[in-house]
Amino acid sequence: MRPDFSKYKNDFPILSRSVRGGNRLIYLDSGATSQKPESVITAEANFYRTKNAAVHRGAHLLAEEASEAYENARSNVAKFIGAEQDEVIFTKSATESLNFLATSFGNPNSKIHIKNGDEIVVSEMEHHANLIPWQQLASRVGAKLKWFPMGQDGRLDLSELNTIINQKTKIVAITHQSNVLGTILPIKEIVAATKNVGAYVVLDACQSVPHFPVNVKDLGIDFLAFSGHKVLGPTGIGVLWGKLELLDKLEPAIFGGSMVDSVTMESATWAKAPKKFEAGVPNMAQAVGLSAAIDYLNAIGMSAVAEHEYALTKKLIDGLKDISSVNVIGPLEMQDRGGVVSFTIDGVHPHDVGQVLDQYGIAVRTGHHCAWPLMKKLNLVGTTRASFHIYNDEQDVLDLINAVKKVKEYFKVGA
Ligand code: ALA
Repeated sequence: MRPDFSKYKNDFPILSRSVRGGNRLIYLDSGATSQKPESVITAEANFYRTKNAAVHRGAHLLAEEASEAYENARSNVAKFIGAEQDEVIFTKSATESLNFLATSFGNPNSKIHIKNGDEIVVSEMEHHANLIPWQQLASRVGAKLKWFPMGQDGRLDLSELNTIINQKTKIVAITHQSNVLGTILPIKEIVAATKNVGAYVVLDACQSVPHFPVNVKDLGIDFLAFSGHKVLGPTGIGVLWGKLELLDKLEPAIFGGSMVDSVTMESATWAKAPKKFEAGVPNMAQAVGLSAAIDYLNAIGMSAVAEHEYALTKKLIDGLKDISSVNVIGPLEMQDRGGVVSFTIDGVHPHDVGQVLDQYGIAVRTGHHCAWPLMKKLNLVGTTRASFHIYNDEQDVLDLINAVKKVKEYFKVGA
C-alpha cells in the first residue's frame, strides 16, 4: 500500500512558513532545488557539533569519527544507486561531476581519452551542465559534437540512432529526464547502441535519482552524475559515479592533498579511486547530510515516491490542458514521464506568469531552464515550470490550476 504522503510535509520546516501576504507556501520548484527535512538539517549540523575534523588526515578521535561518517555516507549513496562504494566520488555538484569527467576524458594521459576525430553524442534536451562541458572538450581536442534531436511530441527522435552513434563515437552523454519537458529518455535503447560501438554512456541523473528508483547496473551505463540538493540533501554536494575499471583509467581533474600515492618535487602518482578524484578537504558535513536524505527517502521507498509524483503530474497535466490559451510543453501522456510540467500562456511572458503566481504563494521556475537550445527548437523564450517532490499534494495542484486561471484574468488572456 502507498504510504500516506500528507504526513511528510511536517518533516520540512520551511513548508510551515507563510509568504506574500500570509499565503501558505506552495513549493513547486523542486526541479531547481528540493526542500530539506529536519533530519537532514540536523545530520549536517550535528556533524559540525560533534565530529567536525578533516577526513582521512588526522590521528585523533574526531578525524577517525569524521572519516567513518564520510565513508558511511559514500556506502549509503552507493547502495542507493546500486553501485560499489569505491565507485562513488563526492564533488560539490552535478555540474562539477560532469565537468570533472569531461576534463579527465580530455587529458591525453588518461588511458581512455577523447582525441581529434572522435565523436561525442548528446541530445537537444540537455541542461547546459551536460552540454557545455562536452562542447568545450570537443573544441579543445578537435572532436565532433553530435546530438539526437527532439521529436514533435517532446520525445527524443531516435530515428537516426545508428547513424548518430557510430564507430567514431566515444561518449554518449545524455539526460535521464528532461528538466524542461519531463520526458524520461529511452536509456536502454541508447545504451544498447552505444555498447555496440564500444563507447561509454554518461547519464545526467539530476532529475531522476531524486524521483524514481535508479540502478546503475540495471541501466548498463558507465558514468552517472546527480546533485545532493535536489534529492532532499544539502547544497554543496554532488555525486559522480563511474565503473571502477573506467575510473582507474582516467586521470583526475583537480590535484592537491589526499589524492596521491607518492609525491616528489618533480611529479606525483595517484591514490586509487575514489580518493584520486577528491583532492582537498571534501564537503564532509554535506556528504553526511546527503546520507540522511537517502535514509529518509529509503524509509518511504523510491517506487512510492515515483507513484506519488506520477499522480500529481497527471492531475496537473489534465487540469492545465483543459484551460484555453494554456499550453503544456512536453509529453501529455504519462508513459515515461516524470514530475516536471512546463507550460506557457498565450501572450504572457513566463516571468510575468511566475510573478503573479508568486503573489498566491506559489513558487515555480520560469525562463529557459538552462536549456537554451531546446527553447530555440521549441521557438519559445521560456516556460513556466512546476516540479514536484514528496511534500506536494493534490491541494497544491488545485491551487496552481486556479492561480493559472487568475493569471489569465489578470492579463486578460482570451477576454
Ligand atoms: N537544473 C535546475 C533546474 O532545472 C537548476 O531548475
